[in-house]
Amino acid sequence: MSFSQFYKNVELISELVAHVKNRINNQAEIRIWDAGCGMCQSTYTMAILLAESIGLQSYSDKITIIATDIDELRTFKSSAEKGIYPKNNLLNIPEAILDKYFSENNAHYQVSEIIRSKVQFKRHDLLTFKSVGTDFDAIICSNVMHHFSQIEQFKVLDMFTSSLKPGAMIFRI
Ligand SMILES: C[S@@+](CC[C@H](N)C(=O)[O-])C[C@H]1O[C@@H](n2cnc3c(N)ncnc32)[C@H](O)[C@@H]1O
Repeated sequence: MSFSQFYKNVELISELVAHVKNRINNQAEIRIWDAGCGMCQSTYTMAILLAESIGLQSYSDKITIIATDIDELRTFKSSAEKGIYPKNNLLNIPEAILDKYFSENNAHYQVSEIIRSKVQFKRHDLLTFKSVGTDFDAIICSNVMHHFSQIEQFKVLDMFTSSLKPGAMIFRI
């Protein structure tokens, strides 16, 4: 698992947010898969940027985020799901966002319940080449593919493609 920063990969995430914003009015639900989400700093960054862009009400009513990782260190339950992070993970977050979406507790910060409530966590090995669902509007896979061989990457992308709604997109680096 990766101990990463919030507000990293903002360029890629902003592209996803713009894509979702374009689709939000025409759909009852927007489904996003964050594949290989690590400790979910990027997942929650995406969730916060989405809430800022489409408004908390639409975020709450329409967004579902499935966050998956192979989770070798079994930290999903103890950390990512609770949304609790040390201050040094949060150094890039603008002050106003920190105040709005986090609460401080014993030198750690917790992502607000409204943001966390739309994120579901699953252990999942991408190299099974089996999807965690269908009808995704967007799949984001950041800093994961380099773990895989070229053939594995091709098969993972193929599996992603068959999990998308028409007009949906894959965002990867
Ligand atoms: C560098 S981290 C990236 C985390 C996050 N996406 C980000 O950009 O901050 C790579 C992640 O890929 C996950 N991973 C590696 N192999 C995987 C696999 N076969 N299936 C699912 N996740 C995997 C690792 O557990 C790790 O959390």
